[in-house]
Amino acid sequence: MKVAIVGATGAVGQELLSVLERRNFPLTELRLYASARSADKRVRFRGQELRVEALPKTPLPADIVLASAGGSLSKQYAPIWAQQSVVIDNSSAFRYEPDVPLIVPEINPHALRGHKNLIANPNCTTAILLMALYPLHKAFRARRVIVSTYQSASGAGASGMEELLQGTRQFLAGHPVEHKTFAHPLAFNVIPHIDAFQDNGYTKEEMKVLWESRKIMEEPQLQLSCTAVRVPTLRVHAEAVTVEFEHPVSPEAAREVLATAPGVELVDDPGQKRYPMPLSATGKFNVEVGRLRQSLVFDNGLDFFVAGDQLLKGAALNAVQIAELLVRETARR
Ligand code: A2P
Repeated sequence: MKVAIVGATGAVGQELLSVLERRNFPLTELRLYASARSADKRVRFRGQELRVEALPKTPLPADIVLASAGGSLSKQYAPIWAQQSVVIDNSSAFRYEPDVPLIVPEINPHALRGHKNLIANPNCTTAILLMALYPLHKAFRARRVIVSTYQSASGAGASGMEELLQGTRQFLAGHPVEHKTFAHPLAFNVIPHIDAFQDNGYTKEEMKVLWESRKIMEEPQLQLSCTAVRVPTLRVHAEAVTVEFEHPVSPEAAREVLATAPGVELVDDPGQKRYPMPLSATGKFNVEVGRLRQSLVFDNGLDFFVAGDQLLKGAALNAVQIAELLVRETARR
């Protein structure tokens, strides 16, 4: 497969390179694109130096385009790239279009069938939530879901990580903390504001979790409420989840389900201080799930905590897994 990465110098772009390498993706050629600012930068891949090119306004010479350079760029160019390549788009630009599959390979690989050269990669918070929620839903049928998130700076890209590091240094030096990427200083703070506020008082990030969960799980009636919060961690999104199920559930039965769920690592031994955390989930392909307990509020209710590397399962890994599905589909033809 000839692959192109658009946004190769960004936080997700860098992870795409490392995931292609770690998973030994069958590549015949890899082209890297970013803005004109990055033209001629060199990036190491499989022991070689690759040159970053300024993104042209034309179709790209690739079988698969992995796009991670923001929604407005995708909106403008993905239809052009899709003339010659299958585009896996990491932005939210096309996720809600009915003829664009929105895929988490462990959950709905069948939705890829009949794609029109454009496939959407889900929002990071959604992908990480569903890795735990979907297997539990299959076993016990989720009816109502309440999620509170603890989202790291890298969700806002490389500039978010840099702003957190710089802000931490400024805070510790007793200087005013500057901010541009985030609505407020993030160092030593938490910010309950990710993406734009909607008329209903939720943010777009919070609504994405509802819209995308319904589409990926193929459950248009699923009820879900999310509060999305930015916290001063560098990477990994953590989420506290409460679910009311239709069928009786127990923490033991849920643990049994999660122990064999693909892409999930059960980290649930509170007595040994083992539970999901950003530091332990960083760099991992699997999403950590733990703190499973019976809800004190809902009948058939369960509370749990997840932590997943949103640059990986929430972005680059999921995109490469979709590309692997395409490789398999091509091999079958
Ligand atoms: P560049 O590094 O040249 O600005 P992040 O999400 O970490 O901020 O990364 C965004 C990615 O999208 C970067 O690789 C960035 O390249 C790229 N990008 C931003 N604007 C454009 C553009 N107009 N054309 C091509 N790539 C772009």
